[in-house]
Amino acid sequence: MQSLRVPLIMSILGIETSCDETAVAIYDRERGLLAHLIHSQIATHAPYGGVVPELASRDHIRKLLPMVDACLAEAGLRGPQLAGVAYTAGPGLIGAVLVGATMAVGLATAWGLPAIPVHHMEAHLLAPLLEPERPTFPFVALLVSGGHSMLVRVDGPGRYRILGQTLDDAAGEAFDKTAKLLGLPYPGGPALARLAGEGRVDRHGFPRPMLNRPGLDFSFSGLKTAVVLKLRELERDGLLDEAARADIAHSFQEAVVDTLVAKCVRALEATGFERLVVAGGVGANQRLRSRLRAELTARGASVYYPRHEFCTDNGAMVALAGSLRLRPGVAGGTRIEARARWNLEDLQAMAFS
Ligand code: KG4
Ligand code: ZN
Repeated sequence: MQSLRVPLIMSILGIETSCDETAVAIYDRERGLLAHLIHSQIATHAPYGGVVPELASRDHIRKLLPMVDACLAEAGLRGPQLAGVAYTAGPGLIGAVLVGATMAVGLATAWGLPAIPVHHMEAHLLAPLLEPERPTFPFVALLVSGGHSMLVRVDGPGRYRILGQTLDDAAGEAFDKTAKLLGLPYPGGPALARLAGEGRVDRHGFPRPMLNRPGLDFSFSGLKTAVVLKLRELERDGLLDEAARADIAHSFQEAVVDTLVAKCVRALEATGFERLVVAGGVGANQRLRSRLRAELTARGASVYYPRHEFCTDNGAMVALAGSLRLRPGVAGGTRIEARARWNLEDLQAMAFS
């Protein structure tokens, strides 16, 4: 009797709802990314000037299931044909995380699949593995998002040691708060970066926080204070026009980028590694990218980024991290994992091929 050849589908559904993006993707170990969708809640939160957690949760509830259906249709798959459902289990806004977690575990249970909880920052730092030109291990990862700024030593998948992190505001948070001070619309980071492009040379020479001290920690709140003081001074003297605002944005961006670049170089020197991965929303910043490329190339090191839409929150990175964490034969349970805080160093190492 001839045996049936059943195609081995190793496709993982990835669900991301930790903040203000609802994102879904299907990643296949053999065939790569099969589908991905991102719905941004910017329009929902813009009138409030920041993310309103309860509105974020409600919007995830509205959007998630239709997006799952659309991704399955695009990939030409039905739910039960998948190998697992991965979801961001934290860190993040707990209500928002819970929406994705409960739906993911519900779908996995209905389809008879394992549900795979994924650490949001691990997903970010593995995102460059989605690209054709992917880094090999080990590498240093600079994770710079709205909620985190950290440098991580990555010896392999799941083997992380935090080398330094922010003592106060995250880099994205500093961009967002400074943008607000400059009267820019939410979300501030990209708007500030655009305004900075119109500014002249670094006129203000804002402080480069923590550069004069050894170590790899960051601090951005002093820089924000320096911007507040400069804005007050210019306003008092009647000099706060559009050009002055652009110059402040420019000087602010230079100070943040200088600090991040110097710490990345320090981290590479401390580890002896030659590869840097940049992930998280601030990784979309063009000035940071060009400065890092120049500095690292000069040192014979390389820098890797995910494509633009995978720098910010997305489902593809969650599906990829889930596919690495999926162990054959491990059955799904109905336990729902959701954490507002979660230390990256608490993760278990995983096999990688
Ligand atoms: O990773 P992400 O999408 O969400 C979090 O997990 O936080 O990062 C969002 C952050 C926001 O603070 C946003 O202002 C910032 O990334 N961001 C940027 C740029 N694009 C996004 N900051 C500076 N320059 C950009 N081009
Ligand atoms: Zn993120």
